Amino acid sequence: MTNILKNYSLRTKLVLLYTILLIFSVSLISYYSYWNTWQMLINNKASNMRARAKPIIEHFLNSKGSDSPDSNKVTRQNFSELAYDLTSRNATAIIINTNGEVIATGKRLPEEMEPSPINYKYFHQALSGKNEISYITDANGKRVQVFLIPIRPRPGNQKIIGVIQISASLSDVNKTLFQHSVELFSVVAIILIVGILLGYWLIGISLKDLQNLSVTCQEISKGNFTKRADIKNRKDEIGKLADSFNLMINKLENMFDLQKRFVANAAHELLTPLTGLKGSLEVILRGAQDDRETVNKLSKGMYKEVNHLIRLCDQLLGLSRLESTTNLSKRQIVLHEFINEFKQKAKYIIKSHSFIIQEGPYVKLTADPDLLEQILFNLLSNAVRYSNAGTTIFLNWKLIPDYVEFRVVDQGKGMSKEVLSHAFEPFYRGKNQNSSFEKGTGLGLALTKSMIETHGGTIKIKSIPGKGTTIYFTLPI
Ligand SMILES: Nc1ncnc2c1ncn2[C@@H]1O[C@H](COP(=O)(O)OP(=O)(O)OP(=O)(O)O)[C@@H](O)[C@H]1O
Ligand SMILES: [Mg+2]
Repeated sequence: MTNILKNYSLRTKLVLLYTILLIFSVSLISYYSYWNTWQMLINNKASNMRARAKPIIEHFLNSKGSDSPDSNKVTRQNFSELAYDLTSRNATAIIINTNGEVIATGKRLPEEMEPSPINYKYFHQALSGKNEISYITDANGKRVQVFLIPIRPRPGNQKIIGVIQISASLSDVNKTLFQHSVELFSVVAIILIVGILLGYWLIGISLKDLQNLSVTCQEISKGNFTKRADIKNRKDEIGKLADSFNLMINKLENMFDLQKRFVANAAHELLTPLTGLKGSLEVILRGAQDDRETVNKLSKGMYKEVNHLIRLCDQLLGLSRLESTTNLSKRQIVLHEFINEFKQKAKYIIKSHSFIIQEGPYVKLTADPDLLEQILFNLLSNAVRYSNAGTTIFLNWKLIPDYVEFRVVDQGKGMSKEVLSHAFEPFYRGKNQNSSFEKGTGLGLALTKSMIETHGGTIKIKSIPGKGTTIYFTLPI
């Protein structure tokens, strides 16, 4: 069944479901209405019959005089008159004595109804004093309603001297019920037709936007990234889906742009040292190999370029490795111990600056120690590179809720607004660099940011040009 349904459109399935629900609910209401009407008609008829019979019976009993008729006097002569009075074209009365024998019947004319046979279960109930007995039964192939009325010598008297049974035809009830059914059927048919058409139309309108969305998806998959889901003024799930979809495409577009720029920048960065290398090699090949001094100078330059290339490739590899957090080998780090070890290694890069570690609170954090070391190295080498010799570099940390916040402070040249806004972009390098420093690749901060973010932390920079820079970064504990 579900396999068959899979081949149909969502609209067909929704309309089908809606139709089934509509038919089910309308049928339920119709059945309830039919049943209610039937009950009402039957009860009405019963009350009418009793109301009609009561004065006739009372008149009959009163006319028998103060001498209360006892069971012995319940005879054919006494009661055939009563049975006759209670009989009409659509109802026939019979009088049954306490022994269950029919002692009088009201049917005289052939067109009058045949009385229905006695149902002794109900007869005994009537005989034991139950007043309002009526039931539906089949008699002579027709449905009839039967009423039983116990006969008492006087109203309120406990003694029962016989039972009147009136069998009434249900033809009038059936006729009214049939009329009611025809009306009900017409209304139900109209409700179903209008309901289904309206549902089909409404569902179509609702799904049209979804269809447009699917067209947009197809266009985007063909490479047209300028396309967006054009669904306005919709606050429902489809509207939300369109919003999320547009948000996702915006992000993807940005990511692709970034990636394109990244590849272009990477190629450019690789090309610069390679062009330098090519130039140097050409000079050597053109005959400079005999000039020891030139070869020496060129070799030193080439060695520097090759080193730069290796560093660049290393950093590019590092960036691509960081794409997935599964590459992290996290373990628990006691920060004091870690920093103590790190202090020794930091000496290799901090040679002509003073380095002060202001120890913060005792912290245990879960992180990849190699990456944490790399983060600190990158930040410290920037601090060294962009501040004058003899100035001080500080490293400290403090606890904030759920995180430990590190700070690397230098007293260097600081960053202009321009540098600050691009510092984390791969291959971005600030201008006016102190030419005495080794040229960077512009990947250091991008890599650092990635390493921190893969740990679930954040990084931000505060810098005052000419005064110094503070880098804040957090790692979860
Ligand atoms: N502590 C700092 N003080 C002043 N400027 C800084 C500092 N750190 C970074 N910058 C600026 O931000 C730019 C980007 O830094 P980033 O570390 O990403 O690249 P880089 O240092 O130039 O090269 P590398 O990839 O070798 O680190 C730098 O070129 C520099 O202009
Ligand atoms: Mg750097």
